Amino acid sequence: MGYFNYQDGQLFAEEVSVASLAKQFGTPCFIYSKAAIEEQYKAYEKAFNGHPSLICYAVKANSNLAVLNVLSKLGAGFDIVSGGELDRVLAAGGNPQKVIFSGLGKTKDEIISGLEAKIHCFNIESEAELHRINEVAKTQNQIAPISIRVNPDVDAETHPYISTGLKENKFGVPIASALSLYKQAADMTGVHIIGIDAHIGSQLTSIKPFLNSIDCLFVLLDQLKTEGISLSHVDIGGGLGIKYDQEEPPEPSDLINSVREKFADRNLKIVIEPGRSIAANAGIFVTRIEYLKSNNTKSFAIVDGAMNDLIRPALYSAWQDIIPVKRSTNTELKRYDIVGPICESADFLGKDRQLDVKSGDLLAVRSAGAYGFVMSSNYNSRPRAPELMVEGYNTHLVRDRETVSDLYRNEHLLPSEE
Ligand code: LLP
Repeated sequence: MGYFNYQDGQLFAEEVSVASLAKQFGTPCFIYSKAAIEEQYKAYEKAFNGHPSLICYAVKANSNLAVLNVLSKLGAGFDIVSGGELDRVLAAGGNPQKVIFSGLGKTKDEIISGLEAKIHCFNIESEAELHRINEVAKTQNQIAPISIRVNPDVDAETHPYISTGLKENKFGVPIASALSLYKQAADMTGVHIIGIDAHIGSQLTSIKPFLNSIDCLFVLLDQLKTEGISLSHVDIGGGLGIKYDQEEPPEPSDLINSVREKFADRNLKIVIEPGRSIAANAGIFVTRIEYLKSNNTKSFAIVDGAMNDLIRPALYSAWQDIIPVKRSTNTELKRYDIVGPICESADFLGKDRQLDVKSGDLLAVRSAGAYGFVMSSNYNSRPRAPELMVEGYNTHLVRDRETVSDLYRNEHLLPSEE
């Protein structure tokens, strides 16, 4: 389980006891392992083995400044989807020249911010967006480097909410119209074509869909060449899955080795946008049991963490492992639904989990480093949990726990009538 292991029956994050962190910082909280983040990034880097590449961490997976800073120090690029994410990358010391801007609804202001920062590439998702970027760049006296996101109509074989490369999805440009869009772009003075990209979905547990997608891109690439349009990079998107439960996803090295083989006789830089596979298993979410409760059919462990903190179980019926922070020696386990205090039946972190627990015990939800804190909300006026980053024996508080007054700081009473 990487950097979260038991030592004498107590769960540790690297060399720090999780129970001691819960005591010091309170619960619920997110705990990240710096070494785990670094290891995953380096696994990609090593696998490229000198092939020209740009690893653009998908900021949406976990955009905490400390996480971005750790990656930026390793030389990472960043895949962003908003002006907000661009700001974060810059605030964390990221290199704008290694930033690619994905997303299908870029506003004029976001395009201007990207141009001002001199980002590496705008990934374009529609004809209308191409026209807007061209116009905005011209009024800014700039030339926007662009790639067109092609929808290769490949089945990523993943959850429908996180599948993006099928024709019914809203993402990208249908492969059949991409050629004519490239031809239009080639005649524009505000854009400069540098690449092509596809992202077909998230939590992919086999390499095949990636390779199918690359094959589609290569067909288009060859057609472009005959039109005199040459590209310098192919961006294969993100999406490599992780092990939450029984999945056996390929390692980054397996994926990159197969991808490199495909690119062997092509003089092209490979861009990749991994998010989950870098951050997910570098984090846990720690919560304390407030009450145990049973009715005739079920037993519940009511915890202080909830769907507002970690929405994946409620939103996607996602399964994430839930383990006790102090391992029990009792072999007689009881089946619980682990639920939060929010007034929604969807407010659960896990169902039917076999545990030996009592009120006051701590639980850790694994694989919470990606799409955890970033998807949290303040529903039920719950302040968001703090984020901690462990580095060996040291712990850094990388985001404070919100206070309730933080939540209504921007709200205003109506003026009084007198
Ligand atoms: N590039 C693009 C254009 C994307 O849309 C995404 C994720 C990524 C890269 C990174 O994908 P990853 O390597 O993390 O799979 N909230 C969902 C996942 C949504 C993914 C959205 N796009 C979840 O919790 O499962």
